[in-house]
Parts: sequence; C-alpha cells; structure tokens
Amino acid sequence: MVELLVLYYSTHGATRQMAQLIARGIESVPGATARLRTVPRISTVCEATEPGIPDSGAPYVEIRDLQECAGLALGSPTRYGNMAAPMKYFWDSTISEWLSGTLVGKPACVFTSSGTMHGGNESTLLTMMLPLLHHGMLLFGTPYTEAALLSTRTGGTPYGVSHVAGTDSSLPISEDERQLCLAQGRRLAQIALQLADKA
Ligand SMILES: Cc1cc2nc3c(=O)[nH]c(=O)nc-3n(C[C@H](O)[C@H](O)[C@H](O)COP(=O)(O)O)c2cc1C
Repeated sequence: MVELLVLYYSTHGATRQMAQLIARGIESVPGATARLRTVPRISTVCEATEPGIPDSGAPYVEIRDLQECAGLALGSPTRYGNMAAPMKYFWDSTISEWLSGTLVGKPACVFTSSGTMHGGNESTLLTMMLPLLHHGMLLFGTPYTEAALLSTRTGGTPYGVSHVAGTDSSLPISEDERQLCLAQGRRLAQIALQLADKA
C-alpha cells in the first residue's frame, strides 16, 4: 500500500475541490490511498496564530506527512502568477527535510486554480515545481494522451491541472478539468506504485 500526500491551500474552495478530485483519482488505483492536508493562513501581525486544528477541511500538514508519503500532489491558488504565500511559507520551513533528503526520489505533481484563463496559471505551476526539485522530487505533468487536455476550453495544462474559476470565483470545475484532476491523481498513484515495486 502506498500513501500519497495531497497538500493544498485554498481561500475560496476551488483548489480544495481540485485536491479532493485528485485524491479520488489516487484512491481509484488499487493499493493507493490519499492523505489530504492543508496549511494555515499567515499574517503580517506576528502575534496572530491560527488554531491548531482548522474549523473545516483537511488537517494542517505536519513534517511527518512529508516523511510518511510515497509521493505528493501540491496545489495552490494562483496569486500574481505564483503560489500563495501560506504555501510558500510552509516550504520555507522545510530546511531540515531538505538536509535529510526526506523527499528525494518521490514523485510529485502540481495543480492550481486561477481567476482568469491567461492570468498566470502556467507560471504558477512551473514555479511551484522549483522547491520540489530542490527537494529532489521527481516531477511529472499531464501527457496529451489525456483526451481532455486536447478538448479543454477551460483549464488544464501539460504542467499539471488548472481550473479557471472566473473573476468572482463562480465557475464550477468543468468536465475536462474534472477528468484531468482524476487522471493526475491516478498517474501519481501508478508512478508511486511502480517506484515502490523497484525499490
Ligand atoms: C492576492 C490575489 C492574487 C491573485 N492573483 C491572480 C493572478 O495572478 N491571476 C489570476 O488569474 N487570478 C488571480 N487571483 C484569483 C485566484 O487565483 C482565484 O480566485 C482562485 O480560483 C482562488 O482559489 P481558491 O478558491 O482555492 O482560493 C488572485 C487572487 C488573490 C486574492
């Protein structure tokens, strides 16, 4: 059995819905389970802290989630063409895991939700890969053999799945985006199982 970490940040819920679909894709593969985790909001007021357990949604990620996972799907809203600060803040706290090679050789993929079609979702996906490459993870995207990647008129990129939520966050996840989320989860599970077989 391999356990895959689906780690996301979400303010309005779109990236959380994508994370849940990716987790479903993971769990559709026999021998794979998903562990959903999120990160707390951050504040410029240093004294302000979030409660230890979030009011709703996935639990906050802990370092042991990185140690115990066989692979990772990382999701963030697009913020000025980049990942959201709370997610970056989390990765900036992982220096011990970088030093000890906790994530070296584990497969990883990325996903994002953006307000607009051309508002930087691809740059967000590509830059989200950078800390994961520093951690020695094996990045993969979405191949064009996934039919939805060719047919989509909404989100979906070869760098990882995206969702276009609209400027007021009102657009639901389209059928193509849904298919690509499920496929990305399946692919993560299949790659992790193949790597576990060879280990
Ligand atoms: C500070 C901030 C910056 C944003 N920057 C972008 C951007 O560069 N491009 C874009 O298309 N959408 C941008 N958005 C919109 C979000 O990416 C979009 O609402 C996303 O769907 C939110 O995901 P969530 O529902 O998981 O919170 C921005 C939103 C905020 C609050």
